[in-house]
Amino acid sequence: MISPFLQKARNYEETYEKHIKKEERPEFHLSPRVGWMNDPNGFSFYNGQYHLFYQYYPYDSHWGSMHWGHAVSPDLLHWTYLPTALAPDEAYDKDGCFSGSAVTLPDGRHLLMYTGVAKETQEDGTVRDVQRQCIATGDGINYEKYEGNPVLTESHLPSGSSRYDFRDPKLWQGDDGAFYAVIGNRPADGSGQILLFKSSDGFDWKFQQILCQNRGRYGKMWECPDFFELDGKQLLLVSPQDMLPQGFEYHNGNGTVCIIGSYDKEKQQFVEERNQAIDCGIDFYAPQTLLTPDGRRIMVGWMQNWDTCLPSTVQTPWFGQMTLPRELSVKNGRLFQNPVRELETMRRNEVRYRDITFTDILQLSGISGRKIDMELDLRPVDENQVYQKFAVRFAQDASHRTAVSFRPHESILKIDRKFSGSRRAVIHQRRSLVRHQNGRIRLRLILDRYSAELFVNDGEQVLSVSIQTDQRAEGISFFCDGLVSMDIVKYDLG
Ligand code: FRU
Repeated sequence: MISPFLQKARNYEETYEKHIKKEERPEFHLSPRVGWMNDPNGFSFYNGQYHLFYQYYPYDSHWGSMHWGHAVSPDLLHWTYLPTALAPDEAYDKDGCFSGSAVTLPDGRHLLMYTGVAKETQEDGTVRDVQRQCIATGDGINYEKYEGNPVLTESHLPSGSSRYDFRDPKLWQGDDGAFYAVIGNRPADGSGQILLFKSSDGFDWKFQQILCQNRGRYGKMWECPDFFELDGKQLLLVSPQDMLPQGFEYHNGNGTVCIIGSYDKEKQQFVEERNQAIDCGIDFYAPQTLLTPDGRRIMVGWMQNWDTCLPSTVQTPWFGQMTLPRELSVKNGRLFQNPVRELETMRRNEVRYRDITFTDILQLSGISGRKIDMELDLRPVDENQVYQKFAVRFAQDASHRTAVSFRPHESILKIDRKFSGSRRAVIHQRRSLVRHQNGRIRLRLILDRYSAELFVNDGEQVLSVSIQTDQRAEGISFFCDGLVSMDIVKYDLG
């Protein structure tokens, strides 16, 4: 049964998507069919296709009562929209179908678990959102909410835990065949904790453990957890609200943290070893991962951030986009991220230069564009006189540019979109400490109309930013204070 709320959203998106031209969206990054998008949800491989759902308000390009938008892809790059999957149409989710995830049931159905939000008037007259976990099952297009919803409520929470901050379940099936979920929650200390739940059938859920406690270390409430094994380590990804900066990391207010450790499955104990920011740019939040049929752990994040997305003045028919899906690995105890290898099939028109030595400003024939994959290999010409600063400027015309600059003597890489066409005084720059050998560094820049993602040293760090620059600004130029030598290979994507 399709509810009137869901039908309304489906009709609306079908009518209004026609007003958005293909060239007015990213080419291979998923954007909302119409209206607003935030977190990736239900990222999964089901019935031979990748499914990516998203937090969705179809009716305007700002956040509103949350639906789940839906798209499918054979290769994580070419997305086809499907009708809205969930609408807030039940008493227990009337104020929003918040973030969640998906697994396949033994009988072949796709199971979604999401956070149902319902406003409740308190004894003192204030109104608060109560958050509970709900389930819907379906065939990859239509989903039916479970009659036993909500399946996880305040009655399942350990004592002192908040019923107002209990959200964003991430599901997986264990080697034992049972289903597990990690869910974000706020304990009595006001910061965050991640709770572990278990179910033998996907419907009947029991609390297991407090898997990890923030204790005020990384921001406050932890949103959108993910928990998986990778390269012999166990990773917990969380998106903390209200973070304080630590050195050059965690400058985003709403940040993301990867905690790397080990996990004793029997005892359900996670032992933390180290932590790092997941993305060092400006626009990144709420990542979620899946395991591909060939065993790769792929992550996609929301390529926006609550701290910078709110005051957009540009009236766009869509707002928000996902990052490029990234292949994850752990090397020397650190998380590495690289664009999914499928991207290589989209490469066209190779332009290659070797050993270009230059100082001051350089432009190269064939090096331009707004949908590109470009690799730069930098080294000093004289090892005893390393250049002071290197920069690559892109999405450039007479009045616009976004720049990545690198100062080897300080080991600082900076991304700066101040002149990208934004009329808002939100943060436009981010600096990051990077590794290099005497000015030798590798950069890979992916542009897709409204974004830039910079992969440093084969995925050791990533910096993501969204830009609103007019598409006619497609120039690329290089700058060096000192003498640098570089190899370049650049492809158009599409
Ligand atoms: C994170 C988040 C989630 C919540 C959703 C609501 O960006 O706040 O915690 O489920 O967005 O749209």
